[in-house]
Amino acid sequence: MSAASHDDVSRRDFLYVFSGAAAGVGVAVTAWPFIDQMNPSAAVQALAATEVDLTPIQDGQQITVMWQGKPTWVRKRTQAEIDEVRAMPDSELKDPEADQDRVKKPEWLVVIGICTHLGCIPNRDNSKQPGGYLCACHGSVYDASGRILHGPAPANLPVPPYQFVSDTLIRIG
Ligand code: FES
Repeated sequence: MSAASHDDVSRRDFLYVFSGAAAGVGVAVTAWPFIDQMNPSAAVQALAATEVDLTPIQDGQQITVMWQGKPTWVRKRTQAEIDEVRAMPDSELKDPEADQDRVKKPEWLVVIGICTHLGCIPNRDNSKQPGGYLCACHGSVYDASGRILHGPAPANLPVPPYQFVSDTLIRIG
């Protein structure tokens, strides 16, 4: 092969490679809006996570925030309430689970406030369980850890995924 034909081959190879690479970039640029629209929008991502400022919640208080359309309780438990749930024997629990496994910090309880029987919203009610919750629909009683004690509900109130962003801020979801 002469030097001239070798140059021609090299130039042709370069053109093939270059045009192939350019086509790849073109496909990527064209496809990006379609791929990008498959990502959850900012609004959906905002609904997927809820940030809660803990600063205004005093000892013994509870607030309800909506997370993914579900009422979610954020409660600052007193030391007496923590001691009570931690002293609860497993034999009293229908769905035994240690309180320590349901909270990230002893004073903060975060649970979805929907009864695990048929979906009513329980209320804080001391009449059946000090510091606990009563679902008036069919009489399910939960403790201050959201664990089912009595009644037809089969399971504890669920703990949503959450994390402490700082000592005074949590992100649920
Ligand atoms: S829905 Fe709560 S006890 Fe039935």
